[in-house]
Amino acid sequence: MQDNADLLALVRTIPDFPKPGIQFRDITTLIHNGWGLRTAIDRMATASAPYQPTLVAGIEARGFIFGAGIAHQLGLGFVPVRKSKKLPGAVIGIDYELEYGVDRLEIHNDVLGPDDRVLIIDDLIATGGTATATVNLIRMAGAKVSAACFLVDLPDLGGTDRLRAQEVPVETLLVFE
Ligand code: PRP
Ligand code: ADE
Repeated sequence: MQDNADLLALVRTIPDFPKPGIQFRDITTLIHNGWGLRTAIDRMATASAPYQPTLVAGIEARGFIFGAGIAHQLGLGFVPVRKSKKLPGAVIGIDYELEYGVDRLEIHNDVLGPDDRVLIIDDLIATGGTATATVNLIRMAGAKVSAACFLVDLPDLGGTDRLRAQEVPVETLLVFE
C-alpha cells in the first residue's frame, strides 16, 4: 500500500465554504505544487490501470484536471462529463444532489457504446451523488463502468459505500475522516 501522507499534506482545509458547517477540502494547493500534481495523477493512473478501462470520463470541473492527465498516462481517450447546457451537440443528462445543492450532468449522446469500459475520475467523493449520477449516465448510454478513482474520500458522507453498492470498484488515495 502506497503511503500518501506526502500528498495529503498538500490539501488545504477551509472551514465554512461554501456554506456554514462544510469543511472544504481544497485541492488547489496540491495542484499548485508541480510534484503534487504529477504524483497525484501518476498514483491515480497506477491504481486505475488494473481495471483495464477503454476510456476516461472526468467530471466537471475539478475532475477534468486529474482525468485528462490520467487519460494521457494510460493512452486513452477522454469524455467530459459536463454541467448543464455546456456541450454543443445532442446530449443525455441526469439531475443529481450535492452535499450543498442540486445540479445536472450531461454527456454527448454519441461518445459511448456497448464495447466501452469507462473509468470515472473526480478530485473528491463526498455523498457520492455526483459519481452515482455519472454511473447512471454511463449505463444509460449503454456502456460499462470499469471503476471509479478519486483523489480525496470523505468516508463519513458515505459516497464510496454508495458506489460499491452499485457494483462499481472504487479507488481513493487520500482519506479525511
Ligand atoms: C465537487 C467535487 C465532486 C463533488 C463531490 O464538485 O469536485 O465533483 O463535488 O460531491 P458528492 O460526492 O457529494 O456528489 P462541485 O459540484 O462542487 O463542482 P466543481 O468541480 O465544478 O467545483
Ligand atoms: N465537494 C463536495 N463536498 C466537498 C468538500 N467537503 N470539500 C471539497 N469539495 C467538495
